[in-house]
Amino acid sequence: MASPAEAALTFSLEPNPAPASDATRAAVLANPGFGTHFTDHMVTIDWSEGTGWHDAKVSAYAPIPLDPAAAVLHYAQEIFEGLKAYKQADSSISLFRPDANAERFNQSATRLAMPTLPESLFIEAIEKLVELDKAWIPDAEGASLYLRPFMIATEAFLGVRPAKTYKFILIASPAGNYFKSGAPAVSIWVSDYTRAAPGGTGAAKCGGNYAASLVPQGEALARGHDQVVFLDAAEHKWIEELGGMNLFYVFDDGTILTPALTGTILPGITRRSLIALLREEGLTVNEGRYSLDQWREDATSGKLVETFACGTAAVVTAVGKVAGNDGEFTIGSGGPGQLTEKVKARLVAIQRGQAEDTHGWVRKIA
Ligand code: PLP
Ligand code: COI
Repeated sequence: MASPAEAALTFSLEPNPAPASDATRAAVLANPGFGTHFTDHMVTIDWSEGTGWHDAKVSAYAPIPLDPAAAVLHYAQEIFEGLKAYKQADSSISLFRPDANAERFNQSATRLAMPTLPESLFIEAIEKLVELDKAWIPDAEGASLYLRPFMIATEAFLGVRPAKTYKFILIASPAGNYFKSGAPAVSIWVSDYTRAAPGGTGAAKCGGNYAASLVPQGEALARGHDQVVFLDAAEHKWIEELGGMNLFYVFDDGTILTPALTGTILPGITRRSLIALLREEGLTVNEGRYSLDQWREDATSGKLVETFACGTAAVVTAVGKVAGNDGEFTIGSGGPGQLTEKVKARLVAIQRGQAEDTHGWVRKIA
């Protein structure tokens, strides 16, 4: 629950005195890439024990001063989110399920012993930044403004315990295709490393999970693949998820399977949305487990016809090839399957306001 002071928090605005020129911004928007360019402003909100959330501010995008003893730098007390703002055909701007990101942010906060942020503040921060920096939303098909809310422990203290001060920060980055290759289907590498163990932080969106995935992801890239796929920690048998995406399998009898949320994978908002959309189509979507051996066998026999990965950054992306120490196999024709294309089109149409939003997922900003 927000304290009365937090509920009444107002954002101060210190406009960037030297925003990017129209020409600089246009050059960035013509080829945004992913995660390399940032808008003119950011949002910060501080938290301290006793006071709670205070000092909500929209100011120029800039480096932040941080004490070298800040807890985040030593024990990785950090969490983040990822969501997108889209320009609609009528030039209005929309967000997709920001309330779900706020909810997951707070679940991650709780797991990392951090304070929760009232959902209204999380969404207001996003709306304020997107409104102010809306000129940074790319127009190109498939492009959007990627929003990165995160929270760090700022207290200067080297003891291992939850910090007593935190900073919430929101930055925005114009985004194009997440995969550099831009290929219609990606190739993935089955890692010998594990991403998350039962009882660990796999279901939280915390930086530490991603730090631990860099070596496995690097191995995947070095072998010529686009992403790493992780198996479970206990048996090294059951397929969990990719470095930054959830997985779906499509079978020849029309049923669909996605790994169940057992605490070791991230509860993706795209995953949750696709399950709802597929079930509305009358399709059976099971949540369960699927082994690497079964995956290989079913892909070879033709029982498995498609596999796709999904996430905010990658949207819906077909998996065409799977490789590991035991060799590799191709899924379907190696390109995007029919259902993958269909469900991607349906999701994107809702996100971009081209299809009716019957779920109340789309939140218009302006
Ligand atoms: N799994 C991991 C490890 C991720 O980093 C992400 C991306 O956020 C996802 C799954 C997909 O989650 P979402 O659909 O909420 O973006
Ligand atoms: C996202 O899809 O938002 C992610 O966070 C994935 C990756 C960029 C970490």
